[in-house]
Amino acid sequence: MRVIHTVAALREALAAGPRPVFVPTMGNLHEGHLALVRQARAHAAASGGVPVVASIFVNRLQFAPHEDFDRYPRTLAADCALLERERCDLVFAPDEREMYPEPQGVVVQPPAALAGLLEGQFRPGFFTGVCTVVLKLFNVVQPQAAVFGKKDYQQLMVVRTMVRQLALPIDILAGETSREADGLARSSRNGYLSPAERAEAPRLHRTLQALAQAVRGGQRDFDALERAAIDGLRRHGWAPDYVAVRRRADLQPPAAADEPLVVLAAARLGTTRLIDNLEI
Ligand code: PAF
Repeated sequence: MRVIHTVAALREALAAGPRPVFVPTMGNLHEGHLALVRQARAHAAASGGVPVVASIFVNRLQFAPHEDFDRYPRTLAADCALLERERCDLVFAPDEREMYPEPQGVVVQPPAALAGLLEGQFRPGFFTGVCTVVLKLFNVVQPQAAVFGKKDYQQLMVVRTMVRQLALPIDILAGETSREADGLARSSRNGYLSPAERAEAPRLHRTLQALAQAVRGGQRDFDALERAAIDGLRRHGWAPDYVAVRRRADLQPPAAADEPLVVLAAARLGTTRLIDNLEI
């Protein structure tokens, strides 16, 4: 496995071969990322044995000034060891000067109707930062397919919208959310949790499960279900940003007969903001 830090070297390494399958990450890899790499590897094998490329880059553009950019864990050596075990062919790990050698004035503004909802309401500019870096990484790696986790459900939809509207010749593959035995969705940010918070954290998944169960059972007062879920989390010390039942197609609030649905949530436990979702 090669670890490459510059755009020029990456282009040279990939120039002669077929277009790879790509897994973009911000590093601090866990089993959830590795499952995406395995999915990429299977897709690459089915596509005639093309290479698998992963990127590791903590993208300042998608963090607001008060967010955790500075404390986001950087664990390149450990990440590369894990990627090597998964038979990743190439890791692209640029530093900030390589990715943003000048102020990034050109940005990708995803449609507000999708990117302004939910995460976009609580993290303004987040999806502009994500789209900008993802498009730039796509331009550098030139993949034929890229894998994104469903854990970041809205991000997956925003990236798919960007790819469709900009006619990028890239298949976007969705990876299922990887969970700990107690249901907590795997996330690099779980590492911020204290032992007491870690014990409490699976409540977010349980809350979504209960809400999904109620909807499957025929309850259609989504507002009431969301309010009850938010109150339940608050009672256990959480500060929820949202718990929302939405249409899977566009993440808009559903009418009673709309299907299929997804329930999404973001909530802070102590200083850690966790997100999760469940397709209903
Ligand atoms: O999901 C992530 O880790 C990041 O948002 C991504 C897609 C690597 C862009 O920085």
